[in-house]
Amino acid sequence: MKGIVLAGGLGTRLYPLTHVTNKHLLPVYDKPMIFYPIQTLVNAGIKDILIITSGPHVGHYLGVLKNGKELGVAHLEYAYQEKPDGGIADALSLARDFAKNDTMAVILGDNTTDADITQDVMSFTKGAKLFLKEVHDPTRYGVAEFDPQDNSQIIGIEEKPKNPKSNYAVTGLYLYDKTVFDRIKTIKPSERGQLEITDVNNEYIKSKELAWAELKGFWSDAGTFKSLFNANQFWALKEEGKI
Ligand code: DAU
Repeated sequence: MKGIVLAGGLGTRLYPLTHVTNKHLLPVYDKPMIFYPIQTLVNAGIKDILIITSGPHVGHYLGVLKNGKELGVAHLEYAYQEKPDGGIADALSLARDFAKNDTMAVILGDNTTDADITQDVMSFTKGAKLFLKEVHDPTRYGVAEFDPQDNSQIIGIEEKPKNPKSNYAVTGLYLYDKTVFDRIKTIKPSERGQLEITDVNNEYIKSKELAWAELKGFWSDAGTFKSLFNANQFWALKEEGKI
């Protein structure tokens, strides 16, 4: 399985910090933010990784990550998203040549988790798999709607709904087969002008090829001041052995 870290976007919610560097290079306790998603992939045995990035500070990545060896990455590639806020699915579409016919684990560069997804990676063969987490503020996320007759089945996902149908957020960690690229081609930009990963996931629901699991352990994005602070606090306590 290949690994893809999506680290484009302009990080406008973190201005003025992101005038200085790319959001994913800001510190989360003692490491740049992007070390965490890379480590999640490496810990699951995925060592062939593509970083997709964009914006005014892309050159900073090479200085920090170099060839990835210090993080246990065997092969590191970079791709450049021309429209920095074209959307998560737009960024992912750039991974087609890199992924070839392989399956892939995709992770958002501002997501940090201490979950171990090794078993999910090992058993994944086709379709898509999402990782959900129960949250108290679902309106910030993609939110799952479950079948009222069988709540093991997701029947739809809504992006940042005003009236969420559950408290289960879709985290920024996804397993996909190679059909993801053709599915991205079928979706249209959303109201905010982005190709949404939620629309891609809904395509998998339509063809009944979407599985999910609850993500065990800590998970947070770090794309707002509050969530960045939250992620810093968690990793500081974890590194100090206090949790
Ligand atoms: O964190 C989980 C949430 O991430 C999901 O629940 C949502 O369904 C998903 O849409 C996403 O929501 P956000 O609004 O938080 O996404 P954001 O625009 O902050 O982008 C998250 C990461 O994706 C960002 O750190 C880098 C990457 N990205 C984003 C955009 C818009 C790209 O690589 N290119 C892009 O054009």
